[in-house]
Parts: sequence; structure tokens; C-alpha cells
Amino acid sequence: MNQLKKTAAAVLKGNWQQGFTIPCQGLYPFQWNWDSGFIALGWAHLEPEYAQQEIRSLLKGQWSNGFLPHIVFHNPADSYYPGPEVHAANLSPHSPEVPTSGITQPPVLGFILEYILNRLDKDQAFLDFIDEVYDAVYANHEYFYTHRDPQQEGLVYICHNWEAGTDNTPVWDFIWDTFEVPKYDLPRKDTSLIDASHRPTNAEYCYYIHLIELFKEWNYNDTTIAAQSPFLIQDPLFNSMLIASNNSLIRLGALLGKAQQVAQLEAWNIKAKQRFNEKLFDPELGGYVYYDLRGERRLSHLSSSSFTPLFAEIPGQEMASSLMNHLDGGRFSGEQFERLLCASFDPTSDLFNSQKYWRGPIWINLNWLIYEGLLNYGRTDLAQRLKTDTLALLDKYGFYEYFECDREKNKSLSQGYGGNNFSWSAALCLDLLKSNQ
Ligand code: GLC
Repeated sequence: MNQLKKTAAAVLKGNWQQGFTIPCQGLYPFQWNWDSGFIALGWAHLEPEYAQQEIRSLLKGQWSNGFLPHIVFHNPADSYYPGPEVHAANLSPHSPEVPTSGITQPPVLGFILEYILNRLDKDQAFLDFIDEVYDAVYANHEYFYTHRDPQQEGLVYICHNWEAGTDNTPVWDFIWDTFEVPKYDLPRKDTSLIDASHRPTNAEYCYYIHLIELFKEWNYNDTTIAAQSPFLIQDPLFNSMLIASNNSLIRLGALLGKAQQVAQLEAWNIKAKQRFNEKLFDPELGGYVYYDLRGERRLSHLSSSSFTPLFAEIPGQEMASSLMNHLDGGRFSGEQFERLLCASFDPTSDLFNSQKYWRGPIWINLNWLIYEGLLNYGRTDLAQRLKTDTLALLDKYGFYEYFECDREKNKSLSQGYGGNNFSWSAALCLDLLKSNQ
């Protein structure tokens, strides 16, 4: 295990750019929002000072209305498309000086701050740092509940598949079916950097770019987006991250004497958890699913996102058990446990593809979230299985971006999938190894 720890540390050090960490050389050469949260947790195990710098750098990209973009382009780089000129976030009156994208990503910062504080045994210097950034993170939550919840029901929407973090989950196929887009010239770089069959198709990319073109036409105005975006989704992963971050900001706010913010966060959270269970739980599938606000329908498919409400302590015991059954001998593990945990999409679905990005492979950040979620519900046995599967993959292949879940296929593979030396795979490995230290 010591070797694994050393290699993980080397990956993070290799991707460090004087103030922030890129997710992966070549493939993702800027600062990404939720990556930075997970990466900061990794740094807490190596250089806590870097964890602070990572978060400060991300917050430099925050907009004046509290919005936190999915990419901050601190540095020039030509190995990624679409870059800052395509996003053109400066069309919004709220954008900051540093170039950013105009879409966001799952809000992990609130709970990351609390995890780091706990990993550092309640270190006073880190608590002071939380005091410094608390209002900025709170402002991001306020942005969501003010601008992303048009019916004031407690659930926020995402308006782009990249906001989900699960870029090409098969669930989006049903949204792409509802509108047509022009054929764009796509100077993609990703498909020449790694195996193109593991990446989204050009047809899917035309949808991704088209949504950005629409938002630019609307100057990234939230009211127009809410009224007109053809993609408007309540995502169980995204809302779980927001609720988990609410949970943490409530506890941290109590430590820091932030009574007013705590009261507001509690009010948001009560409503959010109740509505989440009513609206996003599909009783027939026994799991949480996405809701299409435009089409007013549930998109009834299970994915690794379906289990993340465990992390935010949203389900009661009954709903939690039905989730766990899918992982324990159910469709995500197979009766004979022939699958490693946890596939990113339902392995029994026709839409499942074990090699293609978010259409099936295992991702380490989702595994980490589900692992911690299972611990929240006292399922140490299942959590342990998830951790063993995760560490075995990292140990065998190294710190790839995503991995094969089929146990048999893994016997003949020699590599993981996607980019290599991927930062959050390394960072979260360091966190999972904490109990072996
Ligand atoms: C991919 C992932 C996304 C991640 C980004 C940078 O787009 O789908 O979740 O944030 O890469 O690593």
C-alpha cells in the first residue's frame, strides 16, 4: 500500500501548476470545479497548504452573483476544446476578470471543507481558512436556490450535460431526442489524445456545443435559460452534492458563529430533502433517477448517481435498503458478484457500454461518494467491498480516469480507460488509504 500511496502522491505533484492542479496532462489542462474539490482532499493528506491554494484558486473564478464555473482558464493551453473563446463567459455582466466557462459543476466545496477539517483533526489553521472562504461558498448555494429553482420546490436544475459531471450518461440520449442541432465543425483534441471509442461521439458533441451557443446568445442570463433551455434537468447527483454541502455548511457555520446563514441553509435543506424523496425516487426501480423539467417526466434509469443520496443522508432506512440491494447481489454487482463496484450505468440495460466514459465504466469519485454514503448508513461490509474493488483497480492499472467493471474482462486487460495519471483517482485513493496509514 505504501507504493500505491507514493505513486498517488507523484500523480498529484506532477499535475500541480503553482496554485491549482489540472485533472490530467493534455486532456484537461485547466482547473476544473469538482475535480478541485476532490483534489484538495487529496492534498490534505500530503500538503494541507496546497489544499487551501487549490480552493482559493477555484474561487478566483467565482462570478459576482455567486455562480462558480466548471472551468477556470488561469493559464493558456491548446490541447483542449472548447477553450475560453468558445465559452465566452465575458458575455455575462457577472463574470470575473479571469476567463471561465459559463456553466457549472456539482457543488462539492461545502462538504470538502468539512472532510478536510476532519482529516486534519480539526486543525485551527484550517478552521481559519474555512472562515475565510465560508461566505463565498455560501454565496454559491444562494445562487443555486435563487436562480436554479424556478418553481421554488427545493431542487435545483442543471442546463448542460457538462454541469452534471457525468457528461454522456445514456440518460441524455432521451433529451437529445427532443430537439435538433446544426452540424458544427468540431476541432476536438480529446479523440486524438486517447482511444476515441472511449469518448462521446461527434453527434453528441454537437449538442454540447449547441447548448453553449444558445447560452451565449442569451448572455448567460439565468431567467432566459430557465424559460428556454431545451436541457433542464433535476439531477440526483448534483442535488445530492448540494444537500451534502448544505449539511456541512450547517455544521461548520455553527462552529464559526454564522447563525443567519445556518438558519437559511437549514430551511433550504428541509425542503430539499423532502422534495428529493418525493420526486426523484422511482419506486418501481427502487432507486433515484433524473427528472426532465422540460418534458415533465422522470428518466427512469439507474446509474451510479442513483446511489449518491446516501452520501447526503437523504433516504430513510427503507429507500436506503432498496438502493443497497442493487449493489449487493443486485443488478450492479450481479448475483455471483461478477461485477466490480460500481458501474456508472445500469449494467443490465441495453444502453450500458462497459468501456465508454459515463455509459458504464467505474469512476473513482463516484466510488468514493458511495463508499462514504454506505458508511453513513452503517453498511461497513458493503463499503469495504467497494473500497477493496477500488483499490484493486488502482493497484493493478494505476491512476486512470475510468475502469472496466466486468471481473472476467479485467483478467485479460492491462490498462484502465481514458486519461492516465488522473488527479482525482490519485487524490481519492489517498483518502481511501487513510485507514491503512
Ligand atoms: C470529464 C468528466 C468531468 C470532469 C472533467 C475533468 O469531462 O466527465 O466530470 O470534471 O472531465 O476531469
